[in-house]
Amino acid sequence: MNVTVIGAGYVGLVQSAGLAHLGHSVRVGESDLGRLQQLSAGKMPIYEPGLEELFARAIEHGLITLHSDNHEAVSGADVIFLALPTPPDGNGRADLSILESAVRDLVPALAPSSIVVVKSTVPVGTNALLRSILDGAGCSASVVSNPEFLSEGSAVDDFLKAERIVIGAEFPADAEVLRRLYDGLEAQVVVTDPVSAELTKYAANAYLATRLTFFNAISNLAEEVGADVTHVLHAVGLDRRIGGHFMRPGPGYGGSCFPKDTSALVTIASDNGYAFPMLESVISTNDMQRSRIVERIVRELDGDLSAARIAMWGISFKAGTDDVRASPALAIADELAALGATVVAWDPEARTDEYPSAAGPLEIVEGADLLLIATEWPEFLRVDLAEVAKRMAGETVFDARNLLDPELVSEAGLRYRCLGRRNA
Ligand code: UGA
Repeated sequence: MNVTVIGAGYVGLVQSAGLAHLGHSVRVGESDLGRLQQLSAGKMPIYEPGLEELFARAIEHGLITLHSDNHEAVSGADVIFLALPTPPDGNGRADLSILESAVRDLVPALAPSSIVVVKSTVPVGTNALLRSILDGAGCSASVVSNPEFLSEGSAVDDFLKAERIVIGAEFPADAEVLRRLYDGLEAQVVVTDPVSAELTKYAANAYLATRLTFFNAISNLAEEVGADVTHVLHAVGLDRRIGGHFMRPGPGYGGSCFPKDTSALVTIASDNGYAFPMLESVISTNDMQRSRIVERIVRELDGDLSAARIAMWGISFKAGTDDVRASPALAIADELAALGATVVAWDPEARTDEYPSAAGPLEIVEGADLLLIATEWPEFLRVDLAEVAKRMAGETVFDARNLLDPELVSEAGLRYRCLGRRNA
């Protein structure tokens, strides 16, 4: 099929490379010329395992072409995906202006049989809004919702081994076109109406955010009552109704999706006359998780951070990505710095101008009073802990991801502190 993807951001790039891998001919429309140049030189603007290779292969086989003009990009396309940014507008809502103006601009280039597919995460009712824009312009192209369920760090696999594909269409014929587009994937296809598809996306993210916030609370409680959260989670997860996934204790959720989508769902609910105190509490409980970690670090350093040097391993919001948007690591670093600490940070992929870095994980701990593990990169498991101990001025390792083996840390002569264990 001839497909267009408007927007060469994270979602658009994975979608384009994935569809080309399935054998479709994909035209990518992107207004940022610098980004287009980078892509045509075979370079990815983001770090996402496997994406550069998949994209480069598609370009090589002529299955992806790049266009700075959206009209040129949609010419001859059966299906047009909109993978454009919908940033928070500051009032808990998504700013749809980029999406709306792209649709207005596309109208003259759309055929009556074109199917415009909304891939961006958008508030419930956006498909209807875009429908009314097209109707107002006398354009009979269809609008379909097809939310993405890609996780950063595993997005290529999430596309190629998708568990489900959700298609929200007004007309069965449009849904059928989309279903054929994804032929070749083993995913379950759920066909529904556009509003239900839009809500599915928020429900999935809000549930996952709620789930991990609940288990962070259990981890905190384990600390207070003297239980070991590792054992509690293992035992709870053996119940098949619960399962052992998505319950790793940590500094709370971050990234470009959960914080934005949980707030947006609270707003969507209240805009529609439904109060959602449970989700509001998830958001505030998640914020408190960072402060709790900061408080514990302050206690480890005897209540005074003014002369403390804290080395942080990890900057990105989770392992496997260089994304620092709403990163708990940076939020914690900011709180520590505000209390007077000198914070330095190293990450295998992510960078920040806010805190000085060093050549590697060993160099960063030089002279540190405390080492904070803020992101769960597996690379940290391979660092020589005896060497860490030698280089540090202090002896405390605060593992905010429960990543390291407590015994190995102790054997290296360091004091191990982590989440959900009273004496650690
Ligand atoms: C999330 C969803 O998992 C995807 O399905 C969705 O498509 C995506 O948002 C989106 O809306 O685009 P992502 O933000 O990449 O993906 O990251 P997750 O792996 O879900 O992690 C989110 C946050 O939860 C991270 O801060 C992570 O460290 C934290 N987390 C996750 C935990 O603290 N504990 C866990 O057990 C799991």
